[in-house]
Amino acid sequence: MGLKDFVVAAMASVLVAVATKTLAITLAKSGCPGYCGNVAIPYPFGTSPDCFRNENFRITCNNSFNPPKPYLRDSNIDFANISIDGELQIPNFVARDCFRKNESEDQNQPTLTLSDLTISSTKNVFTVIGCDSYAYIQGYIDDQRYSSGCMSLCDSSKYVKDGSCIGSGCCQIEIPRGLSEINITAYSFNNHVNVSDFNPCTYAFVVDKSSFTFNRSYLDTLPKELPVVLEWTVTGEGNCTEASSKPYYACKENSECYEPDNGSGYLCKCKKGYRGNPYLSNGCEDINECNEPNLNNCEQKCDNTEGSYTCSCYKGYHLTDGGKDGPRCVPNVPNQFPVIKVALIEGNLCFYSSEQREDFDFF
Ligand SMILES: *[C@@H]1O[C@H](CO)[C@@H](O)[C@H](O)[C@H]1NC(C)=O
Ligand SMILES: *[C@@H]1O[C@H](CO)[C@@H](O)[C@H](O)[C@H]1NC(C)=O
Ligand SMILES: *[C@@H]1O[C@H](CO)[C@@H](O)[C@H](O)[C@H]1NC(C)=O
Ligand SMILES: *[C@@H]1O[C@H](CO)[C@@H](O)[C@H](O)[C@H]1NC(C)=O
Ligand SMILES: *[C@@H]1O[C@H](CO)[C@@H](O)[C@H](O)[C@H]1NC(C)=O
Ligand SMILES: *[C@@H]1O[C@H](CO)[C@@H](O)[C@H](O)[C@H]1NC(C)=O
Ligand SMILES: *[C@@H]1O[C@H](CO)[C@@H](O)[C@H](O)[C@H]1NC(C)=O
Ligand SMILES: *[C@@H]1O[C@H](CO)[C@@H](O)[C@H](O)[C@H]1NC(C)=O
Repeated sequence: MGLKDFVVAAMASVLVAVATKTLAITLAKSGCPGYCGNVAIPYPFGTSPDCFRNENFRITCNNSFNPPKPYLRDSNIDFANISIDGELQIPNFVARDCFRKNESEDQNQPTLTLSDLTISSTKNVFTVIGCDSYAYIQGYIDDQRYSSGCMSLCDSSKYVKDGSCIGSGCCQIEIPRGLSEINITAYSFNNHVNVSDFNPCTYAFVVDKSSFTFNRSYLDTLPKELPVVLEWTVTGEGNCTEASSKPYYACKENSECYEPDNGSGYLCKCKKGYRGNPYLSNGCEDINECNEPNLNNCEQKCDNTEGSYTCSCYKGYHLTDGGKDGPRCVPNVPNQFPVIKVALIEGNLCFYSSEQREDFDFF
């Protein structure tokens, strides 16, 4: 790494640190702890009645761990992080059915039972690992029972490919929308008798796709827990239309309401041009696009406005529609005035600067 790279990297990490700090401060309710251990707790979540929206968002921070660990309500579900966009990531137990040589049978059947949290169908997949293996996932979609599963076989690890979950050593199926309260059960067809040298267990689990890639070494050992993405919404208050007329409507100034799961509650997000916490009063703050080069496409001058910004040009230029590049500033070249053409050739742009200011709002 060259010195320049190092400086850039160091600056980047300082920027990240500053960004996370300020974000965390604005995301918790004022006067409330922003963290439990290393985990940021954004409102509507909180650790005391003054700090959470209602009982659904109560976090128990257990200080007997170092660092302290946050738990949802009184459950044994601790989590890695909560996002204001309606997601939270938790470590979840892997179901297994093991036949290790000279060991007693080792089996477990994990469940995840918080009914108002659903398993993200877009972020997770149900995965079964093994060569003599099948497994079920059961749960509820609204009040309907749901049950599915997949199987995975192989005679030797020779044909098992890293990254491939098409039924040889590993199989995967999609998760349906709105699934909650799941049970996972792992089974073996023949107690792994002919494969136990390289695969003593069936493993089955729901996992965050982005943090899992199948590896042949998993036929032998797998971590006890893997991350799952759950979805939360504001529930029990109807949909956006119904809730917006109520005094306890969750979406505050400069935010808008949306329904991620067709009727099972709603979420809020800051309007375009704002960011922060839409659940807090004045939590959505205007973004100054002019201070962030990747948020504005002005070539010369940028003026921040509430929720947006406008571009303008220096004297002697005017704004034109630059198509994909956004608005461009082009010199005023009124070619009907030959005098000015002369000035241009001499390279002195001041000569033909016009008094007329040409601002152009494109939003
Ligand atoms: C914190 O965790 C410890 C160890 O698991 C447990 O014994 C204790 O009851 C927990 N405390 C609270 C307040 O939940
Ligand atoms: C949650 O944490 C995991 C790992 O710590 C990270 O990969 C993921 O992007 C985080 N998600 C959010 C929403 O912050
Ligand atoms: C299993 O245990 C039996 C008797 O205790 C022993 O004879 C055999 O070698 C052991 N097998 C392995 C693979 O450890
Ligand atoms: C999950 O397992 C528990 C305990 O075995 C059971 O009470 C519950 O009905 C199961 N849920 C589903 C959806 O099968
Ligand atoms: C295990 O392998 C032996 C020998 O190849 C075969 O006869 C037997 O059927 C296999 N057992 C299972 C359960 O596949
Ligand atoms: C699979 O796991 C092994 C051992 O942990 C590791 O060396 C290897 O890089 C992994 N392969 C892939 C493709 O991740
Ligand atoms: C909201 O709920 C009401 C009452 O259940 C229903 O009439 C309305 O169509 C719903 N609106 C939307 C956008 O789903
Ligand atoms: C919402 O419901 C409509 C009609 O039932 C369906 O077409 C649409 O795909 C659903 N959207 C989501 C995000 O589930």
